[in-house]
Amino acid sequence: PLVNLRTVLDHAAANSYGVAAFNVNNMEQIQAIMEAANETESPVIVQASRGARSYSQDNYLRHLMLAAVELYPHIPVVMHQDHGNSPKTCISAMDNGFTSVMMDGSLLEDAKTPADYDYNVKVTKEVVALAHAKGVSVEGEIGTLGSLEHKEPSAAPKAAEPHDADLEQEPEPEGAMSHLTDPEEAERFVADTKVDALAVAIGTSHGAYKFTRKPDGDILAMNVIEEIHRRLPNTHLVMHGSSSVPQELQDEIRKYGGKMNQTWGVPVEEIQRGIKHGVRKINVDTDNRMAMTGAIRKVFSLTPEKFDPRDYLKPAREAMKKVCIDRMVAFGQAGHA
Ligand code: G3H
Ligand code: 13P
Ligand code: NA
Ligand code: ZN
Repeated sequence: PLVNLRTVLDHAAANSYGVAAFNVNNMEQIQAIMEAANETESPVIVQASRGARSYSQDNYLRHLMLAAVELYPHIPVVMHQDHGNSPKTCISAMDNGFTSVMMDGSLLEDAKTPADYDYNVKVTKEVVALAHAKGVSVEGEIGTLGSLEHKEPSAAPKAAEPHDADLEQEPEPEGAMSHLTDPEEAERFVADTKVDALAVAIGTSHGAYKFTRKPDGDILAMNVIEEIHRRLPNTHLVMHGSSSVPQELQDEIRKYGGKMNQTWGVPVEEIQRGIKHGVRKINVDTDNRMAMTGAIRKVFSLTPEKFDPRDYLKPAREAMKKVCIDRMVAFGQAGHA
């Protein structure tokens, strides 16, 4: 059935596991997640960004999610708004069947400019009041996501440039200045807003280019999670930007003609450490995007005569399903549906 985030994360906390939250834009991605969940008996969090909602349209998305719960009635499924930028966005998500919303008040409505504490509390409280009246859960965020390796915001990479130095890292997109979560502020924020789950900033960023080396404590601040969990032992913590960007997925994309500079993501063992310290929701999008793209490139490259979309969408769906199964097992949600 469709359930809210609180229901799934309370069970995860009671049983000391984490739950992957996978982003979706289309039918094949929803199918990949549901097939993975069915095989591993996992509870599911499906999330859609604002961009995903506008790409897929709310009506299609709502009915695809209803199809998913109809096909797998025994699996608890959360339908979550990822990075809601305003109460208005969260309200329209609730009107369209979402059972959970993220009010990301760490940034202003433009989703770029860092917001101050009072603004964050004001918009988050407003959404909590509306959502809780309907049984919908709310995720808030305190601190600003972004890599600790890139202190200065810089221009996005120029697409036209040739792919020369394999070891060179793409610069971060503008606005990606990080501001680690202050544990004391996190404690205050949860008391002030009553959010069901709290996203924290620990040096991760969205996308493939998170780190220029395998991260250690200097650039991935897992110790901050431990401190927040000490202060807020009953709050469900959320890790964003938590794709692992596996080497084999990078290699596959490159092997079949894709341009991708060497990069590092968040190692699964670091996430497992987080799960020991209150992390219950782990956001993963990039790994699935890479898996699908590698699979599609392979078909195009090895069998350029094919033009039936099923010939490449089926392998893409299979590749995403494999990533989902890997994460569901690694995070411990397998067997808990
Ligand atoms: O928040 C980032 C997720 O990966 C969604 O990305 O806004 O391009 O749909 P998107
Ligand atoms: P990744 O880009 O690391 O997959 O992060 C996704 C995310 O945090 C969505 O909110
Ligand atoms: Na989210
Ligand atoms: Zn995110």
